[in-house]
Amino acid sequence: MEKRVIELDTATISKIAAGEVIERPASVVKELIENSIDANSTQITINIQEGGKKAIEIIDNGVGIPHDDVILSLQRHTTSKIKTADDLFAIHTLGFRGEALSSIVSVAIVDIYTRTKEEELGTHVIIEGGTTTLEEQTSIPIGTRILVKNLFFNVPVRKKFLKTTATEVNHITEYVTKLALSHPQIAFSLKHNEKSIITVPKGDLLSQIATIFGNNIAKACFPVNNMEESYFLKGYITKPEYSRKSRDYIYIHINNRPITDKIITNAILKGYGTSMPDKRFPIVFLFINLPADEIDVNVHPTKREVRFNNETKIFRLVETGVRESLEKSGLKVFERVEHPHSQTQFIKTTPTSTERLETKPPISLKSGSVTSFEKSSFQLISKRDQPLQKYIHKETEKKSPIHPQTEERRTIRVLGIIKNTYIIAETQEGLLLCDQHAAHEKINYLKYLYQIENKKIAVQQLLAPVSIEIKPSEIELYNELKEKLKTFGFDVDIFGRREVVIRSIPSILGKTISVLAAKDVVDIFKNYATEIRAEIDLKDMSFIKEIISLFACKRSIKAGDRINLHQAESLIIQLLKQKDPYACPHGRPTLIILNAKYLEELFLRDYK
Ligand SMILES: Nc1ncnc2c1ncn2[C@@H]1O[C@H](COP(=O)(O)OP(=O)(O)OP(=O)(O)O)[C@@H](O)[C@H]1O
Ligand SMILES: [Mg+2]
Repeated sequence: MEKRVIELDTATISKIAAGEVIERPASVVKELIENSIDANSTQITINIQEGGKKAIEIIDNGVGIPHDDVILSLQRHTTSKIKTADDLFAIHTLGFRGEALSSIVSVAIVDIYTRTKEEELGTHVIIEGGTTTLEEQTSIPIGTRILVKNLFFNVPVRKKFLKTTATEVNHITEYVTKLALSHPQIAFSLKHNEKSIITVPKGDLLSQIATIFGNNIAKACFPVNNMEESYFLKGYITKPEYSRKSRDYIYIHINNRPITDKIITNAILKGYGTSMPDKRFPIVFLFINLPADEIDVNVHPTKREVRFNNETKIFRLVETGVRESLEKSGLKVFERVEHPHSQTQFIKTTPTSTERLETKPPISLKSGSVTSFEKSSFQLISKRDQPLQKYIHKETEKKSPIHPQTEERRTIRVLGIIKNTYIIAETQEGLLLCDQHAAHEKINYLKYLYQIENKKIAVQQLLAPVSIEIKPSEIELYNELKEKLKTFGFDVDIFGRREVVIRSIPSILGKTISVLAAKDVVDIFKNYATEIRAEIDLKDMSFIKEIISLFACKRSIKAGDRINLHQAESLIIQLLKQKDPYACPHGRPTLIILNAKYLEELFLRDYK
């Protein structure tokens, strides 16, 4: 019988292994910089072409690789950083697996120039897809220069799935940012297509922050310091008013290794307590040092996550550190407490989706299914299958939507507004309840959607353009989104290395925009970049919903706003003219109708 199980050849094994370590150009940059850092370099230069897809060059002034080790260092599992498995539990270098170089050389065309200080001549090798095609000795400076060309030339599938140049540049810039922050003793220079993106001289953390993120953020930073036994926390944090709508400004380093970590992020947020508004994230630069045997860095192929021996201790270190530092800066921090869920509510209207409203049948008191109010959880019913548009005369509407003719007044009669939030109206079907804020938000959302769909977007030029600071890793992204954002009524421009300038906004959002709202808008652009880039159905775009709900607070009628009965009526009429009036853009109900039948059942009038 034919053998089905075969042993893979070395080249295939290397390509599979390389796939784990090298996902994209940014992973090559990360691995090579880490090697340069481990080699005690004080100057690292990174030059990339076409987002690293065409070429990546890293030049360092570190210790170099001795001639006899060069070819060996390109094999799998060859490293100078650990000797035995025991060393895995006390790692002091960024590298330890001995896999990066072998992975890179198996999926690209690589030139390595390297020389140690003991050597007069350096070594130059060329490796193409894992095969050494040249090895020579040459006169070069001490240190290492690695040139990676044509990444994934022999892995077409990978190449096909590479992201846009802008995305790759962003990722690369972000890595350089993180590594520059954790190694202020090293000068970094990053250029893309000959254009400088980051140039940071040697300095201290604060000067690196100022160079990379700008003086405003650096000035807003105040120190955080904490320790517990052999665990140390230091770094800088900023006040809640500098918070952003994304986590991208939370920088966490453990033993000088940039990582992402949920536990620490949660500890930071807990430290900020109620001073940090919901769904917002602070700008922080935190450095935690702990004994190397207290963490396991060998849990993720790209080493971006680590595991802690003592999670509670780390959490406490960060939470108290952040809180105390905020309090020292004069801020009163209250711990965030979860709101107790439903208290004594007799009637709960908690449909989370429009479907739920539709499917639940009215509860019949007579049937005995509800014995007491305490136990009951009434689902209020809306008769969505019979839309209310029929109550509105289209012609009279057009003439005067705010003062509909008596005919309509009779069919939709606003009875009042309770809690300055819920409009109560009578319709032929029964009792209509309307959440004024949700209703107005929905109307604005649909107007905006209509304008975008029909390419008739009304734009408001800002008298004074608003400028928002961004970080270098975001520049390419905003450059890329610029054109697309015009479709949505935003005219933005990139200024220098770290500013986005908003020149106009969709009129539906108002005549002006505060710096705070502009910051959020800029973050929303970033958070929804994939959607904005992709040609997806506008109705499915969370981006549009986010923009509308961001401005809903300012532009829409809010819960608690006093409106008169005419305005209430007009709101309901406008809403009912829409195709799907019953839910706000986020799926919360706007209208609930208690039909006559339901009211009868409620008052036990259906007994016969
Ligand atoms: N820029 C450099 N300067 C000096 N030595 C280097 C440099 N780059 C690589 N080396 C040497 O080559 C070896 C192999 O590098 P490689 O990146 O493949 O493995 P590593 O850094 O040991 O582990 P990891 O796979 O986790 O990165 C290193 O251990 C180091 O001795
Ligand atoms: Mg390495």
